[in-house]
Amino acid sequence: METHEISKRFLDYFEGHGHTRVPSASLILDDPTLLFVNAGMVQFKPYFLGEVPPPYPRATSVQKCVRTGDIDEVGKTTRHNTFFQMAGNFSFGDYFKEGAIERAWGLLTSSQDAGGLGFDPDRLWVTVYEHDAEAAGLWRDITGIPSDRIQVRDGKDNYWDMGVPGPGGPCSEIYYDRGPEYGRDGGPVVDEDRYLEIWNLVFMQDVRGEQSPKLGHPPIGELPQKNIDTGMGIERVAFLLQGVDNVYETDLVRPVIQRAEEFSGRRYGADHADDVRFRVIADHARSGVMLIGDGVTPGNEARGYVLRRLLRRIVRAVRLLGVHEPVLPEFAKVVRDAMSPSYPEIARDFDRISDVMRQEEETFLATLTSGSRIFDLAAEETKRSGGSILAGDKAFQLHDTYGFPIDLTLEMAAEQGLSVDEEGFRTLMEEQRQRAKADAASRKTGHGDLSVYRRLLEQHGETDFLGYTDLQATARVVGLLEDGAPVPVVGEGRKAEVILDRTPFYGESGGQIADTGVLVGHGVEVKVTDVQKLVPGLFVHRVEVTGGELAVDTELTASVDETRRRSIARSHSATHLVHAAVRGAYGKRAAQAGSLNSPGRMRFDFTTAGSVSSDVLTEVEEEVNDYLQTDVEVAAYTTTKDKALELGAIALFGEKYGNDVRVVDMGDYSRELCGGTHVDRIGELGLVKLVSDASIGSGVHRVEALVGTDALRHVRKEQLLVSQLAGTLKVPTERIPERIDDVLSRLRSAEKEIEQLKTQQVLGSAGSLADAAEEIGGVSLVAKRLDGGIDAGGVRALAAEVRNRLGSRPGIVALFAPTDDGKVSFVVATTAAAREAGHAAGKLVPSFAEAVGGRGGGKPDMAQGGGSNPAGIDQAIAALRNALANG
Ligand code: ALA
Repeated sequence: METHEISKRFLDYFEGHGHTRVPSASLILDDPTLLFVNAGMVQFKPYFLGEVPPPYPRATSVQKCVRTGDIDEVGKTTRHNTFFQMAGNFSFGDYFKEGAIERAWGLLTSSQDAGGLGFDPDRLWVTVYEHDAEAAGLWRDITGIPSDRIQVRDGKDNYWDMGVPGPGGPCSEIYYDRGPEYGRDGGPVVDEDRYLEIWNLVFMQDVRGEQSPKLGHPPIGELPQKNIDTGMGIERVAFLLQGVDNVYETDLVRPVIQRAEEFSGRRYGADHADDVRFRVIADHARSGVMLIGDGVTPGNEARGYVLRRLLRRIVRAVRLLGVHEPVLPEFAKVVRDAMSPSYPEIARDFDRISDVMRQEEETFLATLTSGSRIFDLAAEETKRSGGSILAGDKAFQLHDTYGFPIDLTLEMAAEQGLSVDEEGFRTLMEEQRQRAKADAASRKTGHGDLSVYRRLLEQHGETDFLGYTDLQATARVVGLLEDGAPVPVVGEGRKAEVILDRTPFYGESGGQIADTGVLVGHGVEVKVTDVQKLVPGLFVHRVEVTGGELAVDTELTASVDETRRRSIARSHSATHLVHAAVRGAYGKRAAQAGSLNSPGRMRFDFTTAGSVSSDVLTEVEEEVNDYLQTDVEVAAYTTTKDKALELGAIALFGEKYGNDVRVVDMGDYSRELCGGTHVDRIGELGLVKLVSDASIGSGVHRVEALVGTDALRHVRKEQLLVSQLAGTLKVPTERIPERIDDVLSRLRSAEKEIEQLKTQQVLGSAGSLADAAEEIGGVSLVAKRLDGGIDAGGVRALAAEVRNRLGSRPGIVALFAPTDDGKVSFVVATTAAAREAGHAAGKLVPSFAEAVGGRGGGKPDMAQGGGSNPAGIDQAIAALRNALANG
């Protein structure tokens, strides 16, 4: 049975049982506790927690998931995918254990002809949580499964939570026995390869705290109702139903292996090490395409880093299969063809996805080349010093700076007959890992404990946001926090967080920064400096009490700083227009990757392939300003997500929870999902002036613009600058460029002339230097400090000239020149007679180099080097004299 068919049957079955079919959420749903969506329940989290009332009592979905914790296992086991699809059915306070067990069993065991999955019930096993006798009883009663195929396990295996504080519950897992040829008898507690987990039913009822009930810590509370969350691994079911050996050989993954076979000329199944590489390529290519499809771009942090790592692992694996040309876009095509029946957006957005892949591959291939050079040098040095082991820190540098996986370094070393100090490498890796872990831990506590805000939300409901229409309103203080803890009063001069029943203040979101302003009540004045929505729907005002005392229940007048807000609104509206114009210029492939709307200034990041020409940006600027003249009205309205997408609204990544969305229209030019505040008519923007554009990482471009009066001020400032320049250069403005070219070229020739004069002068001193040679140990030595900022080339020329003057005498010249940047450069030259007497320039350097804090070397006739300590020149000269005197 094809994978797409399995997904379809799952959804049809649960829809038939009264579940609302919900599309997969983006892999990068906005949740501060998660890098990627890793389970079907993530998009429903607010419903489980009771933060938002569920729009339906039952739901079903097939969710895109990414888990990279076991990335090293990929390709080595039968069942580790970094990308997989989790099919689930969910009940929000509706049916519980009984309903979940009955339905899961029904779908698994009903025949394929009847629309089921057709598993043989005699080969299914289940596990239950050790404190859940009820579940064991239900399994027996409902399914008739014999007791010896129900196994009891502890929290580690049969309690499920999100790995962070939040919803959780005991669970039951369903396993399929692949048969004695795959492992030992005895059920899943004995062997999880032979008995393969296919479905996890979570009886979601608890709130877990900092510590997980998986490890025996009691939950810290109960969810508002009892729920069901299940997850069936589509890929695992596919591999069982398709009769293949592992999750990499199913209909959706195997085609990439085939393509890699074509590229490499090697055959899958012929060699174990190659097979692992084939599977890594197939798995990672799919994850890469799906992640880029959801808006992730390769980078050095967080999500971007994970993606980069996946893509580079492919390039590495491909190299190890003997392929050296670029391959990622080709693999991406195969993934597109396999995945687009379930995810049509992959086909729609394919050009962009393929561009991102191509660019990342090019970048890595570029460091691969410079890294290879570093490697060659290190290998050469190792051999020259008579060693056979490449240092661990070199391998680490290659890994860390050039993105070289250790296996690649190992293979390249082997080709040169070298081994690698793997232990040293691993120690450095471990140190780095510890640093990263400490960093992650400190960030997690940085998120703080949100439970106090959740409680406030539970007690008082969502804050009523008035700020789309009103900038001033009366409101009541319903919550007050100092240092994160609830307090009844906050005194003058103190900082606090205030929750109001209603507010005109915009809380930072969607790239729009928060409003500021004041809260004024009877005998109390408060300055609002920031507003954050720490849990959805709850506006937390960060304030400073500037007069009197602020107490819970106080009635206040809340006033937004109106000038500032209007200026922010202009920026935000400008962002929409620039976004529309950029898409006009680059097509849908230009996806918004972030934005910031602050007073008078906007920033807009977008991804696109290749470079962004300044001509196009000029066009964007023109088009936006032209459109301003239509002065169309800005219309905002609420509708369903489906309807909005049907209307062609641009939806951004990291979409918010919930089904109702707000759409903002600016004529027929721009239509976006957006919760922000805007101007009433676009004429208010006055002027939008792009002030800078830059590339900020692979494929991401940043445009900054000034809006309204700020734009005008900017233009005026530049104008002033230009007229000042014209004054200084004494030409009309239009002749400034020509005049500057002229001045610069005269400057360059003057500099050249000075250089020549200096060299002549320097060389002119050669005679007197040679005359002052001292006789030491049978040679004529000219050792001298040269002041006057002579560059290394000048020093070398002078040394050669002095040597000439020493003629046929055994002579040694050593010149030291302090440089402008506080260092020292030196040159040693020897005459032929000196060399015959056994004095090689290169060999003399070590006798004095240390004194000037440097090193150097070279041939017998001339050696050269540099040091960091010009103060040591006299000492260096003394050391050289000594060395010669002592033979
Ligand atoms: N949320 C459960 C899991 O991920 C179903 O296994």
